[in-house]
Amino acid sequence: MNVYDSARMAEVLAPLGYVPTDDAEGADMVILNTCHIREKAAEKVYSELGRLRRVKQRRAADGTPMLLAVAGCVAQAEGEEILRRTPFVDMVFGPQTYHRLPEMVARATRGAGAVLDTDFPAESKFDALPEERAPQGVSAFLSVQEGCDKFCTFCVVPYTRGAEYSRPVAQVVAEAECLVATGAREITLLGQNVNAYHGAGPGGDWGLGRLLRRLAEIDGLARLRYTTSHPCDMDDELIAVHGAVPQVMPFVHLPVQSGSDRVLSAMNRRHGTDDYRRVVGRLRDARPDLALSGDFIVGFPGETDDDFAATLALVDEIGFAQAYSFKYSPRPGTPAATLPRQIDDATKSARLAALQALLKSQQNAFNRAWMGRRLAVLFERAGRRAGQLVGRSPYMQAVHADAAGAAIGDIVELTITACHANSLAGTVTGCAPHSAAPETIGVGA
Ligand code: 5AD
Ligand code: SF4
Repeated sequence: MNVYDSARMAEVLAPLGYVPTDDAEGADMVILNTCHIREKAAEKVYSELGRLRRVKQRRAADGTPMLLAVAGCVAQAEGEEILRRTPFVDMVFGPQTYHRLPEMVARATRGAGAVLDTDFPAESKFDALPEERAPQGVSAFLSVQEGCDKFCTFCVVPYTRGAEYSRPVAQVVAEAECLVATGAREITLLGQNVNAYHGAGPGGDWGLGRLLRRLAEIDGLARLRYTTSHPCDMDDELIAVHGAVPQVMPFVHLPVQSGSDRVLSAMNRRHGTDDYRRVVGRLRDARPDLALSGDFIVGFPGETDDDFAATLALVDEIGFAQAYSFKYSPRPGTPAATLPRQIDDATKSARLAALQALLKSQQNAFNRAWMGRRLAVLFERAGRRAGQLVGRSPYMQAVHADAAGAAIGDIVELTITACHANSLAGTVTGCAPHSAAPETIGVGA
C-alpha cells in the first residue's frame, strides 16, 4: 500500500514540477513513506533520517536546500515525537492527508516552521487526488479499501489507518480503466482488509467478488489479484469468483497468523483453525489449482511450545506456496503489548527459524513441482541478457525466459526448465489466453 501511496504522492506533486528520482542526495524533496506494523520497520525511519540530516545540511550549505518529509503510518503514530527527535524534518503527514501535499509544500517552503498533518479528515483523499493516473507499468496496484475494524490484539492498523473505508465502485472502475489505458495488464486490488470491501455501487453496496467481476470486463485487463484478506470475510460470492472468472489469479494471500485456537482467540482473530480449513477447502473446491500464501506470527504473548507445534502442524496440513512470518513485535497502544507472559527473544528466534524452514521447504517443493510443466507468464521487464524477459506466473513466481519475439506486457506460455532459489526459468511454448498480442510470437500453443 505504501508503493501505491507513494505513486499517488508523485502524481499530486507533478503539477508543482516534481518528478520521481532514484537519487535521494540530489533531490529537491525526500519523502520517507513509512511502515509502523513492527518495531523494526519503525526504527529504520530514525536511522534513515540521521543519514538524510547530513545530506540536508550539505545541501543547505551548497545553496540548494532540500525538503525532508516523513509520511505514512510512523508519521501518523509518532507525529509529534518525530518533530521532537528529528527537528530538521520539514513535513510530517499521515496516510490520509497526502492529497494536501501542495499546501504543505507551500507552507514548508515559506519557512513558517515544520508542518504536521496527521488528521483523519472528513473528506476522502481519494476524492481529492488527480483522476488521471501516471503509467504504472504492466502490473499496477489499486487501493480499494483502507483501514480495519477487526482489532486483532497485536495490530496497529486500526489505529494508524483508522476505520474501515471502501472506495465507491465507479471510482475504482474509472481508476482501473485509466491504469489499463496507460499499459497495465494486471491490477492488484489493495486493502488492509481488502475482502471486507463494501463499496457503494449501482443498487447498493458491492462486495469484492462483485467488484472483481466488473473489473474483469475491462478490455485488455488480463489479470486480477487482491491482498490482504481476512478469513472471516471470504464470502460465497468471492469464493465463487475464483471458479468463474479466469482473470482472477489462482493465488490467494490469506493470513492465518497461528495454528493454535487458543492463540487465535487471544489475538482476537475471530476465527479458529477449523474456520480457516473450511475456507481453504471451499477455495480449492472452486479452483483446484489455487495456491496459498499466508502470514504468521510466532511468539505471541503466552504462546507455548504446544501452541507453536500446532502452527507447524497446520502449515504441514494446509501447504503454502509462499508465506511471510514474523516474530511478535509489541506495538504501543495495542492490547497484546501489555499482556503478561511475553515471550523472550531467543524463543521467538528459534520458533521463527523452525517455521521459516518448513515454509521454505514447502515453497521449494511447490516451485520444483512446475518443472516440465507449463505456466502462463506476464512479462514485466527485460532480463539481464539480450532477448531475455522476466515476468510473473499466476502464482507470483518470478520466471525468466529467452523470448526474443515477445514484448513486455505479453502473456506467454512457458515450459519450466529450471528452478533456482528465487526464480524459475522457462522456454516459450505458446501464447496463453488474454495475451496482448498473440501474433507477436510465432509459436503454436
Ligand atoms: N508483530 C508481528 N507481526 C505483526 N503483523 C502485524 N502486526 C504485527 C506485530 N505486532 C504481521 C501480521 C500481518 C502482517 C501484515 O504483519 O502477520 O498479517
Ligand atoms: Fe490488523 Fe489485519 Fe487484524 Fe485488521 S485484520 S487488525 S489489518 S491483522
